Amino acid sequence: MVTPDTRPGPTRADPAGRPHVAPHSARVSSGLRALLSPSVAAYEVSLLPSDPTPAVRREAEFRAGRAAAAAALADIGVDGQVGRGTDRRPLWPSGVVGSISHCGHLAVAVAAPGTAFRALGVDVEDLGDVDDEVRAVVLTPTEQAALEATGGSALLGIVFSVKESAYKCWSPLLDVTLDWADIEVTLDRSAGSFTADVVGPSARLRPPTVTGRYAVHRGHVLSAGWVGQG
Ligand SMILES: CC(C)(COP(=O)(O)OP(=O)(O)OC[C@H]1O[C@@H](n2cnc3c(N)ncnc32)[C@H](O)[C@@H]1OP(=O)(O)O)[C@@H](O)C(=O)NCCC(=O)NCCS
Repeated sequence: MVTPDTRPGPTRADPAGRPHVAPHSARVSSGLRALLSPSVAAYEVSLLPSDPTPAVRREAEFRAGRAAAAAALADIGVDGQVGRGTDRRPLWPSGVVGSISHCGHLAVAVAAPGTAFRALGVDVEDLGDVDDEVRAVVLTPTEQAALEATGGSALLGIVFSVKESAYKCWSPLLDVTLDWADIEVTLDRSAGSFTADVVGPSARLRPPTVTGRYAVHRGHVLSAGWVGQG
């Protein structure tokens, strides 16, 4: 079960109003733990509910994501920091793969040794934020047909989240930007699992299939994808 913790967390603003996330505020993410193998460290940080300006919110999300990532790195015995690429891509220490996501009052991060996985990707979404108007943009015709056949109001949000998780796996491997239509997702709803493949022009790069799991709980969807070694 995914249990996004939306309780007020130990994030606070300093007197200048700058958000502060204490390194010790990260805790093991039970939701991600349920989706991933035990070899993957998974942490979350809750953000104080508040009504910040977009800039303050963005800084708080960034710091919370980095605090969760630092905890995940420490968990796998790596003393290092996650840098920031020019395209916002997180730069993990050598020999480590990982991923970061944030949504509302929750930030999550995962990390694992690169000997275990070629890539990891995580995503958390508030289903209320995935408007039906994006359906035609996010879903390929095949996915739309599957959604119409099976129904389920959360499906659009699940596919949305899974595509972001898969994109985060491929981005460092392929070094290309993929559009929604370039990714095709197949869900196994009884198992809460998925596979994702690149179907657009970038398929010529022979990207590996991303495998993963997802869960929906309390109006949120949490997904995690990975590319294994070998
Ligand atoms: C990666 C991306 C999908 C994340 O979207 P988002 O709405 O910001 O969602 P999340 O909160 O889940 O993820 C944010 C984190 O993803 C990570 N991220 C950003 N770009 C990334 C990339 N290219 N590869 C892997 N991870 C990336 C960052 O750690 C970021 O958090 P930070 O900036 O605080 O460090 C988006 O930023 C992006 O690059 N989109 C361009 C391509 C696209 O939209 N394609 C269609 C969707 S598949």
